[in-house]
Amino acid sequence: MEEQSKQDHLCKDQPHPNRRGPSYPHKMAVLTAGGDAPGMNAAIRSVVRVAGAADIEVVGVQRAFEGLLFGKFTPLPSRAVANIIQRGGTILETSRSEQFRTPGGRARAAENLHYNGIGALVIIGGDGSLQGARALAAESDLKVMFIPASIDNDVPGSDFSIGFDTAVNTALDAIDRIRDTAFAHERLFFVEVMGRDSGFIALAVAIAGGAEAVVIPEMPIEVEELIRRVEESQARGKRSSIVVVSEGPRTGGAMKLANAVDGRLGDAARVVVLGHIQRGGSPTARDRLLASRMGAGAVKAIVDGRLSSLVGEHRGEIIFVPLTEVPEKSRTLDTELIELVTLLSL
Ligand code: F6P
Repeated sequence: MEEQSKQDHLCKDQPHPNRRGPSYPHKMAVLTAGGDAPGMNAAIRSVVRVAGAADIEVVGVQRAFEGLLFGKFTPLPSRAVANIIQRGGTILETSRSEQFRTPGGRARAAENLHYNGIGALVIIGGDGSLQGARALAAESDLKVMFIPASIDNDVPGSDFSIGFDTAVNTALDAIDRIRDTAFAHERLFFVEVMGRDSGFIALAVAIAGGAEAVVIPEMPIEVEELIRRVEESQARGKRSSIVVVSEGPRTGGAMKLANAVDGRLGDAARVVVLGHIQRGGSPTARDRLLASRMGAGAVKAIVDGRLSSLVGEHRGEIIFVPLTEVPEKSRTLDTELIELVTLLSL
């Protein structure tokens, strides 16, 4: 159903050799908001370079929405984004702003942009920032393009968000190392990954890392069921196990689960919390490509006079979903993948 309604408003990316909207802003701003994600810099770079080619001046907004409220704008000529494609984090920095959540705060942000002659804004961020983008676009005459960037990969309207691939590979690298020790000592490890409200990272890492079980917010598991599964795998001859757990109150986290199991599965279980390690580091090739394509897409959308939109990826294509049509709910997990974890660990 959701898939169908998505298809209805998808438009494939179109090159714009000479195609220009009747008029488009010649000065635009770019900001990064919410949790940082590897590849945000590659997206900023792409926005700046593609805008430059279309004769659009770009300014960076420092510290996300807070920077909009306090007019923290900095010019971003092409050279300002040299040597950043390989860097994690964000050169513009990021923050979470309470004031921007209010209509008054957003009106002030729009006023600051107008005062500086800026007619379009590219917001690079996650689920929370998408709400801000929607509201700003609805309440002002600014052209707002939104690029999904979140290691959680739960932003609706796009199959992938910038940063997810890097976070998964970082966590996977850690799991491969942990498995060496788990095997050598015949131990059970609980490995906690990020994703307070969504299990995309945990599920991908569990499948790619060959975990024995996965515990995610969308489908928390009873301790007795978890013990039964690990016991079954031990009965099949496995002497070490890895359980991947999403962080947060809905799963209880790895430490709580390890305490609950408390020696019932052999030696005391070991716990590794990967935490913010997953947010940093050099983006993978996949994230750099995605960020570069989405950044270019956002600028083209402005030049082509599209409605304020989310610039996403669907089945490998860059797509534009008007912000008014992006589903409200976060992306949901493919439950078949959950079953695959169990099947592959037999
Ligand atoms: O949304 C990205 C994310 O890293 C989540 O996976 C995590 O739950 C949250 O941000 C952590 O936020 P903070 O860095 O503010 O502690």
